[in-house]
Amino acid sequence: MNTVVESAAPAANWTLSVDDDNIAWLNIDCVGQSTNTLSAAVLEELSGFIDELSRTRPRGLVIGSAKPSGFIVGADISEFETLTDPVETAAMISTVHALFSRIEAFPFPTVARIHGYCLGGGLELALACRYRVVLDDPGTRLGLPEILLGLHPGFGGTVRAIERVGVMAAMDLMLTGRNLDPRRALNIGLVDRAVPQRHFDRAVRAMINDEPVQPRLALAQRAANKSVTRPLVAMALRREVAKRALEQHYPAPYALIRLWQEYGGNREAMFRAEARSIAELFVSATSRNLQRLFFLQERLKTYGRNGAAPIQHVHVIGAGTMGGDIAAWCAMRGLKVTLQDREIKYIAPAIKRAHAMYKKRIRDRYRRAQVQDNLIIDLDGSGIAGADVIIEAIVENLDAKRDLFANIEKQAKPEALIATNTSSIPLEDIAAGMAHGERLVGVHFFNPVAQMQLIEIIGGSVTDPGQLARAAAFAVAIDRQPLPARSSPGFLINRILSPYLQEAMTIVEQGTAPAVVDRIAKEFGMPMGPIELADTVGLDICLSVGEVLASSLGGAVPDILRMKVAQGRLGRKSQRGFYDYKGQKIVRPKAEAPDQPENDLRDRMLLRLLNEAVACLREGVVSDADLVDVGMVFGTGFAPFRGGPLHYARERGVHGIVQRLQQFENQYGERFRPDEGWQSLMSAESETV
Ligand code: NAI
Repeated sequence: MNTVVESAAPAANWTLSVDDDNIAWLNIDCVGQSTNTLSAAVLEELSGFIDELSRTRPRGLVIGSAKPSGFIVGADISEFETLTDPVETAAMISTVHALFSRIEAFPFPTVARIHGYCLGGGLELALACRYRVVLDDPGTRLGLPEILLGLHPGFGGTVRAIERVGVMAAMDLMLTGRNLDPRRALNIGLVDRAVPQRHFDRAVRAMINDEPVQPRLALAQRAANKSVTRPLVAMALRREVAKRALEQHYPAPYALIRLWQEYGGNREAMFRAEARSIAELFVSATSRNLQRLFFLQERLKTYGRNGAAPIQHVHVIGAGTMGGDIAAWCAMRGLKVTLQDREIKYIAPAIKRAHAMYKKRIRDRYRRAQVQDNLIIDLDGSGIAGADVIIEAIVENLDAKRDLFANIEKQAKPEALIATNTSSIPLEDIAAGMAHGERLVGVHFFNPVAQMQLIEIIGGSVTDPGQLARAAAFAVAIDRQPLPARSSPGFLINRILSPYLQEAMTIVEQGTAPAVVDRIAKEFGMPMGPIELADTVGLDICLSVGEVLASSLGGAVPDILRMKVAQGRLGRKSQRGFYDYKGQKIVRPKAEAPDQPENDLRDRMLLRLLNEAVACLREGVVSDADLVDVGMVFGTGFAPFRGGPLHYARERGVHGIVQRLQQFENQYGERFRPDEGWQSLMSAESETV
């Protein structure tokens, strides 16, 4: 029998009960939230219970969650924006340190009972317990993802993670932000037991009854933490980080390494330094911008909330680059997928690619087999009749698509979502061939499907809004971000990206080496330079998108792009484009410094992108500036730490950008003419000055 214990102060988010064995069970269940977070109020309540437990001294303490969705997903990010003063923030962090240290110092055994997500501050709380027992289930994930918000762990996690699993494993967790499944967490020693549901509570009790001795870290890991070795290890870590992020763009990983290098040998000093370091990071522009993107991502997810009936079966037509990968991805997300193409020879490569991806991403053999079974070859299209979602990804040809949809419409269930992955054909043109054109939506995936998180959800002028909501729900169901956009040439992402890529090509045409152009863009913060990106997308595709945009919006496609395509230099897929390739490897010849100021080259590329982003906003391709920003970050990788193109424009100063565009217009012609949309941004800027 359990006796519920009231805390001295009223508590809404935690319940403490003590069972007949005098084991205390402290369960979190945050009021009004689907997941548990460690807000200031939740921590305050926790503090009250820790006082209580210090007095009553049970035989053991179990900290768990009463929410079926999981343990604790971290600190409450919505409170971060109030943290504007580093000194106050460091003091606040120190009180959490003190609280967790009291849990750590309890004279009786403490166990974190973990199911579902256990992330950030949640894992840091678990690390303050003596033992961690996790539910061995695919839904259980552990990680320290603070780095993704431009931070590092701040509730003592930098100290305890390293103590627990050693420097290399802990740094890997903290520097990448990756989540671990129960097996991996057990393998590196982050948790003590991973058990199925039926043994969960028994395993938790056993930790309290048996108090097993925890294994010491291996000698090599202990050695890595010594003062003589730390500088060398830190240097190696910095070198790895530098491959992915520059310190001026992403200070957090460097701050984390520095913190450990300086204080790794002194526990108390490292706690204090952790508080100071994270307090500084909280107010950094990078972290603020990443936090903003986090909330914008959450906003995109809300578009998928009203999607009606659940989706179980997806039918994909066209097993090429896109269709094959869309099918593979949907099957991996647990949906039944039927994949159709004209002949088996077109489907076979897609199945091979899918199996290679599953092998890489799904370690559990049984689950892998299940996912493979989800993906079914369907040459005669019999899957159409039973599918909840039908996605067309055949060649970019209007007549072919029209014929296909006329057929699909006759066979599909009345409630099925009918979608096209077209990247350039107006939805209205395809829908015109259907009896019920209002059923057609665009679901525009990006290449490579498994990496690009965004899907543009395209509505034509006749599209039924209910179908758009359903398409957004489908995107969320397969763990993608739906961005609602209007049917117009190039939609949002390709339209904005195209002038940027084309300007980069023009700069190459005028004599600057591709490698220099790419380096300049990467120094701005792009994950990949525009020339390499164009080669990766495929120059034929860049050309066809460019032509669609030129014919509807004016402008011209650079001659060099036409020439490359005419020469069969299509990019990575043909092993030659602007660069040459050896298998997956790019050959980047040594490049001379450009004969023009690099700032000018950077601004030429960037300002064409910004100008198009402003045009899209003015035309209402998406409903507001935030959607332009989040779309470009997740659809193209636009420097996330800069918060998106329009946010960047506002931060840099809209008036200055317009002057620069005018200067370029005089020098290089009308492709730089400032869009009319800048006017309203300039007025907004003048009002705030
Ligand atoms: P792809 O040429 O690689 O594949 C097209 C596949 O469709 C081929 O396997 C072909 O055999 C099959 N097909 C053609 N007619 C068919 C029919 N009537 N019935 C069944 N199968 C048929 O083309 P890709 O690149 O996958 O593009 C497909 C669609 O996705 C296009 O509309 C394209 O604009 C769009 N898209 C392409 C992106 C890319 O980066 N490649 C990105 C986003 C959208």
